[in-house]
Amino acid sequence: MSDVAEHASLAPEILARGVRIKLALDTGEREAARRLRRAVFCAEQKVFQEDDGDATDAIAMPIVAVLERDEGWPEIIGTVRIHESSPGVWHGSRLAVARQARRVGSVGSGLIRLAVCTAHAHGCHTFLAQVQSQNAPLFHRLHWHTLAEIEVHGLPHHLMQADLSFYPPISDGDVGFVVGREERTP
Ligand SMILES: CC(C)(COP(=O)(O)OP(=O)(O)OC[C@H]1O[C@@H](n2cnc3c(N)ncnc32)[C@H](O)[C@@H]1OP(=O)(O)O)[C@@H](O)C(=O)NCCC(=O)NCCS
Repeated sequence: MSDVAEHASLAPEILARGVRIKLALDTGEREAARRLRRAVFCAEQKVFQEDDGDATDAIAMPIVAVLERDEGWPEIIGTVRIHESSPGVWHGSRLAVARQARRVGSVGSGLIRLAVCTAHAHGCHTFLAQVQSQNAPLFHRLHWHTLAEIEVHGLPHHLMQADLSFYPPISDGDVGFVVGREERTP
């Protein structure tokens, strides 16, 4: 892929086709999600050096945002993971959307929705995340509240909790749902 293509916005394709938010069930989706995480958290944000993987990956459920292409393989343009730490207490982490897909089609919001709704379907009563402070306004708009301001990996974060009444259980995350498609009137 050329530099120009890497930096070109994916907005036209996202608005034309939509993006499917779903559980990452196959190996290809999971590997692509890990590559995207490395691009965002290592290369872009430099929070980690070469790999952001940790022990949570062994128990977490990965979720992906999939953009179908005219030619070639579908592209993974977003990801998040969820895991349960004690009965009913779930966490979301490693939320990342490809730079070319941000602030178009609500891909990040869609990932947050499937993350919390899937946990809710698994009996979650408390859903928490450590959110980088610059993203706290986005989460506030999505019905999360701040429990504490903390430092994680040397960066300011908000420990936040989702209001589950806005996140009804979703149990068919293998199919998921589509965000971003622009409805056209004939
Ligand atoms: C944070 C992130 C996942 C958001 O993804 P996204 O797909 O751009 O989010 P959305 O498009 O769903 O955002 C929804 C709305 O919030 C707005 N928004 C997005 N990021 C915002 C921010 N940091 N502050 C305030 N508003 C924000 C968008 O403009 C959009 O508004 P709109 O609905 O009026 O158009 C993405 O910016 C990202 O991957 N950042 C780098 C990695 C990162 O910070 N991960 C999160 C760690 S906590």
